Amino acid sequence: MKLIVPIAALLPVAVRVFAQEISQRPTLTPSPYSPRVPFPNPPPRDNDRVCVVMTHGDGITDDSLNILFAFHQCNDGGHVLFARGETYTIGTAMDWSFLNHIDIDIQGRIQFSNDTAYWQANSYPFVFQNVTSFFKLGGEDVWIYGGGTLDGNGQIWYDTYAAEIYTLRPVLVGIDGLKDSVLSDLVLRNSPQYYHFVANASNVVFNNIDIAGGSTSKNTAKNTDGWDTYRSEDVTIMNSVINNGDDCVSFKPNSTNILVQSLSCTGSHGISVGSLGQYPLAFDIVSSIMVSNISMCHASDGARIKVWPGVASTMSPDLQGGGGSGAVFNITYEDMTINDVDYAIEITQCYGQKNLTLCQQYPSPLTIEDIHFRRFKGTTSSKYEPLVAAFACSSDKVCGDIYAEDIDVRSPKGKKEAYCLNQEVVNLQGVQCTANYKGFN
Ligand SMILES: *[C@@H]1O[C@H](CO)[C@@H](O)[C@H](O)[C@H]1NC(C)=O
Ligand SMILES: *[C@@H]1O[C@H](CO)[C@@H](O)[C@H](O)[C@H]1NC(C)=O
Ligand SMILES: *[C@@H]1O[C@H](CO)[C@@H](O)[C@H](O)[C@H]1NC(C)=O
Ligand SMILES: *[C@@H]1O[C@H](CO)[C@@H](O)[C@H](O)[C@H]1NC(C)=O
Ligand SMILES: *[C@@H]1O[C@H](CO)[C@@H](O)[C@H](O)[C@H]1NC(C)=O
Ligand SMILES: *[C@@H]1O[C@H](CO)[C@@H](O)[C@H](O)[C@H]1NC(C)=O
Ligand SMILES: *[C@@H]1O[C@H](CO)[C@@H](O)[C@H](O)[C@H]1NC(C)=O
Repeated sequence: MKLIVPIAALLPVAVRVFAQEISQRPTLTPSPYSPRVPFPNPPPRDNDRVCVVMTHGDGITDDSLNILFAFHQCNDGGHVLFARGETYTIGTAMDWSFLNHIDIDIQGRIQFSNDTAYWQANSYPFVFQNVTSFFKLGGEDVWIYGGGTLDGNGQIWYDTYAAEIYTLRPVLVGIDGLKDSVLSDLVLRNSPQYYHFVANASNVVFNNIDIAGGSTSKNTAKNTDGWDTYRSEDVTIMNSVINNGDDCVSFKPNSTNILVQSLSCTGSHGISVGSLGQYPLAFDIVSSIMVSNISMCHASDGARIKVWPGVASTMSPDLQGGGGSGAVFNITYEDMTINDVDYAIEITQCYGQKNLTLCQQYPSPLTIEDIHFRRFKGTTSSKYEPLVAAFACSSDKVCGDIYAEDIDVRSPKGKKEAYCLNQEVVNLQGVQCTANYKGFN
């Protein structure tokens, strides 16, 4: 810790100035697993280079220029401080992909403006689905921590989306091309859509992230995934608490070597591979994923693999697909405790299609193999009673090598049945396979 001198004199809009202490860098303790690539461990930054971000502090006036100014001034070896007790307003989309060798210490609160028209016209578009974000974070050797809050002002978006499903709701933390970086000790609230979209990332760690938010109106907070990874490798997500309404973590196309461990997820759609195979000309790969030590409460699923069928299908007007190929392999889910979850495990190659016969007639060209589930315990919800899981391959030619062991999960009535389609039943230990189909989530 060190007292620092603000650079207020240089700032275009200096309002208030405090000398304040900067946070210690967080310690990263991976457990139960260590990642394949060691966590980033850069030398400390120059403690004489601290840029305190100035704020208008009225909760309305845009502080974006002050933020960009501080990032540029202290990039390449310094610290940026969002001061404790201050609120910063962001009303402008910012490109933060120039960041390099920098520690960003967020102790205060950063709130995104509620100008839905502005954000829809100006937020950063990603080349995946219709994802956009408030800012685009990239660069190398970027550490963001400090215990502060990013608030996405989600309510206005949940209400706007309910009236118009093509509303482009920004992701709270949009990442494109981030390397050797760490986000830790952050509080994320009320994201309009996903909390994190992690694209083109390698060796990035998310540690001790506290996610929560929900709607206070009758309109639900939809698609509020905790993390979606895309075209990324060597990403670790750990030691975090997530209260949301969609996937806790989701592995989108070309996610490999991802470690997800020691999370507590509540209210989610589980930890999901996919959905994949949505686009006919694409080849999606998800491989070498380890998910370990997860508590999953009040959720639709625990462990999930969702793949579109080989035939065009419609989930909802803004979610359609099918026919895409690719491969899912070497996926492990272990030590999952479930409580009030509809399916502890769900594998489907019939995502977005209600007609199971059609899925078997047109099997997905996206293969699933070398999948392991072990040491699950707990109780499901009554939704699919007596089923606790569903293992559904559209054909054994495109999907196999699926193993379950040590599955000690019961339905509320004490059953442990699983819907099995095209499975090597002997490999699924701890559940009783039946042909009793009760649907997919
Ligand atoms: C948007 O935010 C401004 C500034 O905080 C506030 O005055 C206004 O009432 C908000 N508008 C809506 C629709 O919530
Ligand atoms: C990721 O990198 C690729 C290749 O450089 C680029 O085309 C794409 O726009 C980047 N972003 C996303 C979200 O894929
Ligand atoms: C993106 O939004 C447009 C309408 O703005 C919609 O037609 C299209 O289906 C959406 N694409 C995806 C992948 O959701
Ligand atoms: C995923 O990787 C495969 C193999 O390298 C490539 O063919 C495909 O275009 C990639 N897809 C995306 C979305 O990047
Ligand atoms: C499992 O996760 C919990 C937090 O959800 C943590 O307290 C515990 O230490 C973790 N166990 C291991 C072996 O890492
Ligand atoms: C399978 O994935 C695990 C991570 O769960 C990784 O350690 C291992 O190297 C992968 N195996 C292969 C053959 O890539
Ligand atoms: C489901 O698909 C099968 C095979 O194409 C078809 O014969 C059947 O009529 C479909 N069922 C419904 C309810 O659409």
